[in-house]
Amino acid sequence: MSIDRRSVLAAALAGVFTLPLPRRALAAAEVERVDALIARMTVEEKAGQMTCLTDSFRPYNPPNPQVGIQNERQLADEVRKGRVGCLFNGIGVAGARRAQQIAVKDSRLGIPLLFAGDVIHGLRTIFPVPIAEAATFDPALAERTARAMASEATAAGLHLTFAPMVDVARDQRWGRVVEGAGEDVYLGSLLAAARVRGFQGRDLRRDDSLLACPKHFAAYGAVAAGLEYGSVDISEETLRETHLPPFGSAFAAGALTTMAAFSEINGVPATADRDLLTDLLRGEMKFRGFVFSDYTADEELIAHGFAEDERDAARLAVLAGVDMSMQSGLYIRHIPDLVKSGAVPMETVDVAVRRILYVKTAIGLFDNPWRSLNEDMEKARVGAPALQALSREAAARSIVLLRNEGLLPLDPAKGQKIALIGPFGEDRANLYGPWAFYAEKGKGVDVAAGLRAAMPDPAQLIVAKGSEILGPIDGGIAQAVEAAQAADIVILALGESQDMSGEAQSRTVIEIPPPQQALAQAVTAIGKPVIVLLRHGRALALHDGVANAQAILATWFLGSQTGHAIADILFGRENPSGKLPVSFPWESGQEPFFYDRKSTGRPVVDSNIEYKARYTTTDNSARFPFGHGLSYSEFVLDNLKLSDTALRWDRAIEITTRLTNKGKRKGSEVVQLYIRDRVASRTRPIRELKRIERVTLGPGESKTVRFSLSRTDLQFVGSGNRIIAEPGAFDLWVGQSSTDGLHAQFTLYAAEAVAR
Ligand code: NOJ
Repeated sequence: MSIDRRSVLAAALAGVFTLPLPRRALAAAEVERVDALIARMTVEEKAGQMTCLTDSFRPYNPPNPQVGIQNERQLADEVRKGRVGCLFNGIGVAGARRAQQIAVKDSRLGIPLLFAGDVIHGLRTIFPVPIAEAATFDPALAERTARAMASEATAAGLHLTFAPMVDVARDQRWGRVVEGAGEDVYLGSLLAAARVRGFQGRDLRRDDSLLACPKHFAAYGAVAAGLEYGSVDISEETLRETHLPPFGSAFAAGALTTMAAFSEINGVPATADRDLLTDLLRGEMKFRGFVFSDYTADEELIAHGFAEDERDAARLAVLAGVDMSMQSGLYIRHIPDLVKSGAVPMETVDVAVRRILYVKTAIGLFDNPWRSLNEDMEKARVGAPALQALSREAAARSIVLLRNEGLLPLDPAKGQKIALIGPFGEDRANLYGPWAFYAEKGKGVDVAAGLRAAMPDPAQLIVAKGSEILGPIDGGIAQAVEAAQAADIVILALGESQDMSGEAQSRTVIEIPPPQQALAQAVTAIGKPVIVLLRHGRALALHDGVANAQAILATWFLGSQTGHAIADILFGRENPSGKLPVSFPWESGQEPFFYDRKSTGRPVVDSNIEYKARYTTTDNSARFPFGHGLSYSEFVLDNLKLSDTALRWDRAIEITTRLTNKGKRKGSEVVQLYIRDRVASRTRPIRELKRIERVTLGPGESKTVRFSLSRTDLQFVGSGNRIIAEPGAFDLWVGQSSTDGLHAQFTLYAAEAVAR
């Protein structure tokens, strides 16, 4: 079956979906209970419900400056007084029960606390980082891993995760590329919905349902020059067409919270942007849940130069539509007085509190404040061994085989001597990726351990570090060259440390750090067959020494089972099937680079012709394009057929093609359907992904893959923000990446043209 979320995407584009709040609607009695509570609340208690603070009952230390209350006694006092409604980034049932006990038994109104945390790619069991998992092009897998994370996170005493990050990321200098689904809006929308479904499960009231918080609303990935926390200057059309659909898709899948971005859009910080957070989000997109600020983002309105002082910042944020202030404490400090002075209407505060209490009701907190706070469950589910198998499966499927000049897979029976060279060979500090604060450090399987476990004679593996991640090692290169000389095959494990991507990790140059590049050059120069394993949270610009290795694999940050998953692929126990969710450019300076760019008036047809839209120093293409990924099988597409080359206004056309596995092993291919609108009233990208289908075939097997397209797939945001499709000619490609494929054309006819 083709993965078809057409209606969701079209609806998200059009802003016409309506959202259930909650999915199992609140009973009338529950709504009345919330109203009755609000009627009894003091304005301070209301501001308390709108305040989320780090959880000093069970502290962990994720990033961001430590501010505010840092000890349990003081925080307990705040909970008792009803001055906080949500705690975040602490785990463990015992601490949560202590906090909940105070909220429910000792505070005047007994409103339960909501427990939130950043469970982005795992809690104790770490799964591949989201950008890696996006490379599976498989929403069903993303749903399964999100479900597994929810099982652990809720057992550890959390109700909500600040995930998925659904920001479309088109500039690889931005560190947070690692947390999302990459550069494409369609793939991003599919994965956004899948992850929300996975976190939340079928029933929000079950104790293993974890509320999702798609973030960061909106266009956070579009920060200028990839600079974290930077400014976004963007057309309304691009905002709507590229950055909003994954949010629409996540909301339509049932997400009941979101988080305002740190960044500003067109001069207005998102945290204070009423047009964005109220008119667009709630008015047009019909979002019915509640909005978190990001960490101290309300207070940061002062540094933005948008608010005069803390009080003004609290006023602007609450009036814009931020319901829950994260960490600054600004709401509890200033809302009572803002209301008293008339600067903020009580009605605005009541609406925000109602949204928050509805969500608490929706997950059954009022009926059972102890949901997800059970020590037996915690013991049984956190770090459950069964999750390791899913982590390994997801990790192997996230690996993208970028290049293979006949070297892979390795045959373990040959007993070849392998030299594993580079800072990531025996390193366990950089397996997980940037959001793994709750995992046990040093527990993952590193590359050397994974290879040894898969080799008949582990003594055939020689390990030489050769270089640190960022600095040379005295004599390191000489040792590495010696190891390579003694081996039949060299594996170079190179790339970024896990803290070189993630929040606040923007880079100007997205290359392998120089000492590792020097190591690669020295080692490849001796002429042994070389396999490069890249460790990275973003696309990289690769250069000789790495780029001309016989085999190159994108292995990202794969989590707890890294080494085993890599060995599964290298020794052919698994057939690679990952596809790039981000384009690998030739040079850093091409960023932002993405496959669905515009033609320009002077597109490059022949690189020898001057005065064309290109750099003088490199082609403006990708070294490895979006959607690219090889297999050990040879997949061939042929027999592309369209049911009609005329697409009528209210009809659909069927597209079929045959996929054959001409290789000798079973494998999976992701068939990708792209279109191009040749002429439009706003220029359209040179290609746009519209459908994907993952197909698994045995050797010699064929399958007919079917897609259907209708007018809504051809829509875009036209002038005046109207969602339109325009009659005319379209190109269509069905292929194995964004730059190849079988080609056909069709024409969309206007309704009248057909009637005539
Ligand atoms: C800041 C990050 O931008 C956000 O994504 C995260 O959820 C919060 N900190 C809480 O840790």
